[in-house]
Amino acid sequence: MQVPDVASMRLLPVVLLLLCSCTRFCRPHYRKENEKKSELPPASDLLDTKCLAERHTHRSCDKVFCQPWQKCIGGTCLCKLPYQCPKNGTRVCATNGKSFLTYCQLKSFQCLQPDSKFLNSGECTGQEKFDVSLHHEGPDSVGLLRVKLTVLEESMYVCKDGWGMTQANVACLDLGNPLGALDTPDVARPDINIDECLHVSCRGTETSLTECTFTRRAGVQELAGVVCYNDSEAPPAEKAFQCVNGKRIPRGKACDGVNDCGDQSDELCCTRCQGASFHCSSGVCIPQQYRCNGERDCITGDDEANCGGAERPVTSEPNLLPLDMDTERKRIKSLLPTMSCGVKQHMHSRRKRVVGGSQAHVGDFPWQVAIKYGDGISCGGIYIGGCWVVTAAHCVRASRVRQYIIFSSLIDWIKPNTELHFRLVNKVIIHENYNGSTYQNDIALLQLKMPSLKECEMPGSVPACLPWSPYLFQPNHKCIVSGWGREKGNLRVFSLKWGEVHLINNCSQFYPGRYFEKEMLCAGTDDGSIDACKGDSGGPLVCQDVNNVTYLWGIVSWGENCGKPEFPGVYTKVSNYFDWIGRHVGRSLITQYNL
Ligand code: ARG
Repeated sequence: MQVPDVASMRLLPVVLLLLCSCTRFCRPHYRKENEKKSELPPASDLLDTKCLAERHTHRSCDKVFCQPWQKCIGGTCLCKLPYQCPKNGTRVCATNGKSFLTYCQLKSFQCLQPDSKFLNSGECTGQEKFDVSLHHEGPDSVGLLRVKLTVLEESMYVCKDGWGMTQANVACLDLGNPLGALDTPDVARPDINIDECLHVSCRGTETSLTECTFTRRAGVQELAGVVCYNDSEAPPAEKAFQCVNGKRIPRGKACDGVNDCGDQSDELCCTRCQGASFHCSSGVCIPQQYRCNGERDCITGDDEANCGGAERPVTSEPNLLPLDMDTERKRIKSLLPTMSCGVKQHMHSRRKRVVGGSQAHVGDFPWQVAIKYGDGISCGGIYIGGCWVVTAAHCVRASRVRQYIIFSSLIDWIKPNTELHFRLVNKVIIHENYNGSTYQNDIALLQLKMPSLKECEMPGSVPACLPWSPYLFQPNHKCIVSGWGREKGNLRVFSLKWGEVHLINNCSQFYPGRYFEKEMLCAGTDDGSIDACKGDSGGPLVCQDVNNVTYLWGIVSWGENCGKPEFPGVYTKVSNYFDWIGRHVGRSLITQYNL
């Protein structure tokens, strides 16, 4: 662990002052340029092209949570089998006349048999009729939407209030148009007396309008108009945002929180968001009304942070239909198993200093373990739950399995503390593509020997959470590296040290030809004063999310020298190995999401 020396610390205020005076003079120019640009925001500066090339949709678990009837496999939300659903629930009826034990079972069955859609809750009686139709005067494709709900005798017009592309996409899907709606234009009211309409609200992921929430609105109101998608009326390619599903939408409608594409691809690669929408730090725009609504919509959780205790579980008017499917969806979610990681048992108030390089105390890094081989601590490691420790592949050899001792709650290995525990190792699993000369895939798992036949627990230890998506943390995020490695001047260290570093983008500029973006990540400080060093290998680089949950973002792997600004520390990018770890330790041990 390389820490800043006092001399360079003294320089810091001077450097900061210089920086300040610079920004003070430079900023107005910068601002003006920005203002000019924002007169007509060209969608291109909202969009992250590198991300777009990854072709994310509502089924990319790197970007969004899967539905509770789906699980994440290789980055894509795929349907569970009906038996994998929670058993708890009420019966629902499908359009094919079949009845299902639960909504979840129907939704997972629908993945295999797309034409068995949700019809109504309760048993199938064979009498119920749900219908969506377009009412139009002329020959053109514009029409007023009419809906016949199973619980009502008559069909009714839909109100314009609350009507938008989210709802229109679902309606057009019901009308047989897989790409959803083209537009929601104003349409003249027909010349008859209509004094009531249906207010409809959807999430946009429904496959039938009857899964949305309906309420009755009395009084003469404007009505909802819709044109379903057709290629000839869609905006030309040069003015359009190209959705992953092939649909073209007006370019200005990307990154506004509204799922215009229908597959959400217009909202998943945004550097910022426009209109009434909220920007998740994962680069996703969600509708503003999802903020502080009690449900985590951003994978990063920022939509439910800093709500000031004002989380308002949306208490909408009661649905006309007997069971509200959005409520049911949330209920199914709440039945899925949960787990706990990355939350310390008690918060220490001792760690006040911002600049790291500090001495750790018991309980500060409850996931940190030490690997003893020979007569010293050879490497660090990270406890991830169960019997499992993650470390760097270059730290361990399968043939030495019996010679490792894993210490938890260790601070100083010269003066051992009482909280200390140790375990022997049962099995060493080195990544099958670990390359000892390039340090690619520098990751290994250690299975600890159980002390008895009981479960494998590590007293005093808390597992670090494992990141399931590379979008959980962004460049410049401040994270913490810790270990027993060498200090400046190659001095040996006996006690656990930690330091704050930030995530560094574009690391190939520092290590041309040696840095592999997909598998590695860089972190450091601008002056290089804080860095991992020899002996820190295998140890954690952890980052905290907005809810103070700690994730293992990197494993100390390599770096040229220690503490040189032109050579930041290189870490194994743990999010890239989430599936690999899950395959060996079992998915349910390491995540509660998308299971
Ligand atoms: N490979 C080193 C070890 O075995 C870790 C080096 C990390 N170096 C750095 N400058 N960040 O401990």
